[in-house]
This record gives sequence, structure tokens and C-alpha cells, in this order.
Amino acid sequence: MPEALPPTLELVPAAGGYVLRLLDQTLLPNQEAVLELVTVPQVCEAIRMLRVRGAPAIGCAAACGVAVAASRSQATSLDDLRQELHEAIRALAATRPTAVNLFWALERMRAIVENGDDVAELVAALVSEAQAIIADDVDRCRRIGQHGATLIPRGARILTHCNAGALATAGYGTALGVIRAAHEQGKVAQVWVDETRPLLQGARLTAYELQREGIPCTVICDNMAASLMAQGGVDCAVVGADRIAANGDVANKIGTYGVAVACQHHGLPLYVAAPLSTVDYDLRDGAAIPIEQRDTREVVHLAHLSEKAVVPDGVAVYNPAFDVTPAKLVTAIVTEAGVVRAPYVTALGRLRQQQAGAKG
Ligand code: MRU
Repeated sequence: MPEALPPTLELVPAAGGYVLRLLDQTLLPNQEAVLELVTVPQVCEAIRMLRVRGAPAIGCAAACGVAVAASRSQATSLDDLRQELHEAIRALAATRPTAVNLFWALERMRAIVENGDDVAELVAALVSEAQAIIADDVDRCRRIGQHGATLIPRGARILTHCNAGALATAGYGTALGVIRAAHEQGKVAQVWVDETRPLLQGARLTAYELQREGIPCTVICDNMAASLMAQGGVDCAVVGADRIAANGDVANKIGTYGVAVACQHHGLPLYVAAPLSTVDYDLRDGAAIPIEQRDTREVVHLAHLSEKAVVPDGVAVYNPAFDVTPAKLVTAIVTEAGVVRAPYVTALGRLRQQQAGAKG
């Protein structure tokens, strides 16, 4: 029987202002602990340490951070409040560089900060914008799921990398949204879950989500994927994205590029599922996507799980959090507005125009 997942994050009223409640993902799958964050430094720490992670989820958390700060501010004038909030936005924007959703969500909040005729009105508007960003994200994920499920054949054995699930979004997920929707249609025979070194988002988080929902899954080490494909055990791969350049190059969790190369070699489709808030139209191609470099202790101490180092003291360690998969290895990009295929400059550009047209 499927068991409901705890919410990834919630913005709730409490004594003294709003609170950002979030499930501490660093403790999963062993412990389900909910943090109650009431300051911007706390929210920044949670994003930096991956207590909340995944491109859409960090955008939502950052938006909530601004709303929490506004609701708890002691400022009595609009100017003072605005100044405080601009500082909060700067701090939140400096937490992680790769996922563009963080900057997209903060831009939405910044636009609201400029409005409002008094302090109470501005606070209310910011809380409601953060809530709208959360609700909107769940809605986008469901639509991504519906569009993406059309690509999945019956009896599919799907490989996924990292966690692009409910935990990486406000709910339902992008890549896992596609898998959830396909599972609801009875199409999924097996999900191969790459463990996703170094922080094990696949083994710890994706496997936790899929098990909760009764979706058949098997965890593999990252270095097993290619051989599994060679044996004919995989029908397609579905992954999320942290930033997609205008030409369709995709930044996602380190290791995605290797999956893409292996898929191409074995003639398997690689689908990227992401909301349009992940597309950075300002970047012509993936070369300019900033790639976060993380603490080497994540590698040396096995995702902080081992006190003992597994690398000899003094040996250099390289730990980029993301890689870029060139558009030519991406079979299709699944967005909330539909499935697009190469040439992505034209296809993504068309979606942008449609969106602009819909906003009027
Ligand atoms: O470092 P993380 O765990 O934040 O990286 C997450 C990913 O790479 C996800 O695949 C991506 O953000 C898409 S989440 C819907």
C-alpha cells in the first residue's frame, strides 16, 4: 500500500511570523526530521548543506526565506523593510550557483518587494507570492508527468540519476513525475536508480520515494549503468535538470553526462524533464553554466557517512556537483508546456513565445 511522503517544504504561520518547515533530506532515509526555519541564515544553511535540494525545491525554499524574513521583520518603514529584503535576497542567491530556479524564484520575490503601499501589505504580498511559487511548482510537475508519460512504453525499465522527485520539488517531481505518471498508467516494470555519488541522492532519496509509492525499483552503483544497458536491461533514461541553456545543453547532477553517453552508445533515449523555470534563455549554450564545486570531504568521507577517510591524506580530490550534457545527446525535453525535440533553440524559443503570449 503506497505511503504518503512527508511534504518537502511548507510555509506556515506561527507565533512571531511565518516559519519554513522542511524535511531535512540529509537525514533520509533513516530519519524523517522536520526543521522549522525562522531566519535567512538558517534557510541559507539548509540550502548550502542540501537539507533542501533539487532545482525547483531550492527556488521554493529561497522564496519562502524572503517571506519568512518579511513576516518577522521589525522594520516600521517600507524603505527599511525593502533594504532588509534586498539583503536577504542577496544572501539567498549566494547559496548555490548552478540551478537557475533559485534566481528565477528570487527574481519573482524581488519584483514584489518593489510593490506595496505599506509594510503589512508588502508582507502579505510576499507570503502569497511564495505560496503561489510552491503551488505552481506542484502543478507544473503534474503536467510534466502527463506529457512525459506519453514517451514511456509499456513494461518500461527506466534508469534515473540523482533525485528529481517530490523531494526535489514542491511535490510530485520532474523526472520522477514522469515515472509516477507512467506508473499510474501501469507502464513501469522497473526503475533502475543510480546511487549518485558522492551524496547518494539516488540511493537515499529516489529509492525512498519510489519504495513509499510502491514503484518497483533497484539501486545500482553509478558504474553499473552502462553494463546494464549493454545487457539489454534498460529501455530509456529519464533525468531532471538544474539549468538548460537556450540551445538545449543540460546541466544536471554529476554523472548525467556519462548516462547520456552510454544511452547514445546503446541506442537508448535520454529524456530530460524540467519546468520552463529551469531554462536559462540568457545562456546560448552550456559552456557558460556555472558549475558548483563542493567540499572534497563529501568524497573523502563517503557523503559524511564515514568518520574514516577513504582517500589517502594529502591526495587531491575533485568534486564538481554537476556536469553538462550536450543537447545532441538529449532525445527530448519534457516541460509543463509539452515535449520538445531538437533543434532546441527553435523549440524552446517557441515555448517562450507561447508563455509570453499567454501572460498577455
Ligand atoms: O545537488 P542537488 O541534489 O541539489 O542536485 C539535484 C539535481 O541534480 C536534480 O537532478 C535537479 O535539480 C533536478 S530536480 C527536479
